[in-house]
Amino acid sequence: MKAIWTNRLNDTLAEIEHTLRFLSHLGCNGFDCSEKSIQTLKAMGRETLEDIQADLGDCRRCPLSQHRNRIVFGKGDPNAKLMFVGEGPGYDEDQQGEPFVGAAGQLLTKIIQAIGLSRDHVYICNVVKCRPPGNRTPLPDEIEICLPFLERQIAAIKPAFICALGAVAAQALISPNMPISKLRGRFYDFLGIRVLPTYHPAYLLRNPDKKREVWEDMKRLIPYIMRGEDVAEPQAS
Ligand code: URA
Repeated sequence: MKAIWTNRLNDTLAEIEHTLRFLSHLGCNGFDCSEKSIQTLKAMGRETLEDIQADLGDCRRCPLSQHRNRIVFGKGDPNAKLMFVGEGPGYDEDQQGEPFVGAAGQLLTKIIQAIGLSRDHVYICNVVKCRPPGNRTPLPDEIEICLPFLERQIAAIKPAFICALGAVAAQALISPNMPISKLRGRFYDFLGIRVLPTYHPAYLLRNPDKKREVWEDMKRLIPYIMRGEDVAEPQAS
C-alpha cells in the first residue's frame, strides 16, 4: 500500500516538475496567484488542438503569412503516442493545408509504415505553420513567433515520443546550434517527452544513401511501438 502512495507522489512530483519546466520554457518564472492567473493555468491544462487552432486563427503574427496560401496546422491522432515534427509547409502542403503531402510526405508515409504504423496512428505537424517563400529555411524570428503553437500542440497531445525531422525541428526542440548529423539517432528530453531527431525526408530524397541511418534511428522506436515497452536507453541531456 505504501508503495502505491509513494508511486503516486512521485508521479505527481514528476508532473509538477514537467509543468514548471514547460512554463519556464514559455518564459514564465513566477506567479501572481491572482484569480486570473489561476484561470489561465486551468485553461492551459485543458487546452485542445481545436482551441489552439482557433487561437492561431487567420494568423498574421509574422511575415510568412503574407505569402501563404493556407495555414498548415497539423493532422493526425490527437492522442497519438508518436508525433512527427517537420520544418514548415512546402508548395503542396500550402496548397492543400495538410502537412507532408508532397514527395517528402510520401517518403514519410513509407517511414511510418516501416515501423508498423499508419499516418492515422501518429500526429504530424511543423515548426512553422506557413510556407516560407521559395521553400527557404524559416528565419529565427519566424520560428520564435510560431514555436509556442507547436509547444501548445505538444502539451495538448502529450505524446510519448517526438520524431524531429531535420535540423530546424531538432534545433527548435533540443539544441539551437548543433548540426542534425550530430544530434540524430539519440533520445533527448523536451519537457519530459523523448525526442528522437533524424534526417528530414526531403534530405533523404536528395541523399538516398542516408536512408540506412534513418532506418537505424527509427528502429529505436520499434520495441515501444510493437510491445508498448519503454525505451530502456539512457537519454542525452
Ligand atoms: N517539409 C516539411 O518540413 N514539412 C512539410 O509539411 C512538408 C515538407
